Amino acid sequence: MKKVFAFVLAFLLAAPAVWGEDTLPAPEKTGGMSLLQALSERRSTREFADTDLTPQQLSNLLWAAAGVNRPDEKRVYPTALGIQDTLVYVLNREGIYKYNPVANTLTMVEKGDHRMDTTQGQGFAARAAVNLVYVHDASVWDSLRNMKGWTTPQELVIRWGYAHTGAIVQNAYLYAASQGWNSVVRGSFDQAKLSKLLKLSEGQAVTLVQSIGPRP
Ligand SMILES: Cc1cc2nc3c(=O)[nH]c(=O)nc-3n(C[C@H](O)[C@H](O)[C@H](O)COP(=O)(O)O)c2cc1C
Repeated sequence: MKKVFAFVLAFLLAAPAVWGEDTLPAPEKTGGMSLLQALSERRSTREFADTDLTPQQLSNLLWAAAGVNRPDEKRVYPTALGIQDTLVYVLNREGIYKYNPVANTLTMVEKGDHRMDTTQGQGFAARAAVNLVYVHDASVWDSLRNMKGWTTPQELVIRWGYAHTGAIVQNAYLYAASQGWNSVVRGSFDQAKLSKLLKLSEGQAVTLVQSIGPRP
C-alpha cells in the first residue's frame, strides 16, 4: 500500500513538470512600430543574443504570428475554407511547448533545451530565444471528409497547409522586426527527428522552422 501511495505521489509531483499547461499573459494588441516601417525592417538575420523572451514577449509574438483575433476563433492569418490545420510549437531553453491560440496557453511536450534539434547544423538556432516549429495537420481534413462528406483533394490540402505556414512566418518576421529582434525562417531540418521529438501523429508534418530572438 505504501509503495502504491509513494508511486502515485511521485507521479503527481512529476506530472505538472512534464505535461503542465501554462497560461500566457494576455497579448498586447495595440501600439508598436508602424506596419510600413516593420515591412521596411523585415529581413533574415542569423545572429542571436542567447537571451530568453519574457512570458509577455512570447505571448505577443505567438499572438502576432498565429493568434485568434475574432470571437469566432479565426486567426490573424487567413485559412483556406476557414479550417485551422496549422500548429505552432515553441522550442526554447526550457523545453518544447505546443501553442493553443484559443486558450492562449502553452502545453509542455518535452522538457529540456532541444533548440539544436530544429536544425541540421546551423548553430545559431541554439542561441535564438525561440525556434518556432510549424506543423501542418492534414488529419483535420480526414474528419471533415468522414463527418461532413467534404471532398477536398489531399494535394490541395497540403498546398494550402504550406500557404498557412507562409502567412504565419511573415507575421512572425514582421513582429520580430517591430521589436528590433532578429529572425530567419528555415526549410532545412530533419523531418523524421523533429516529428518524433514533437510526438507528431499520422497526417502531421513539419512545414518550416523559424528562429527568432533578441540581437547580440
Ligand atoms: C522556404 C524557405 C526556406 C528557407 N530555409 C532557410 C534555411 O534552411 N536556412 C537559412 O539560414 N535560411 C533559410 N531561408 C531564408 C532565406 O535564405 C532568406 O529568406 C533569403 O536569403 C532572402 O533574404 P531575406 O529573408 O532577408 O529577404 C529560407 C527561406 C524560405 C522562404
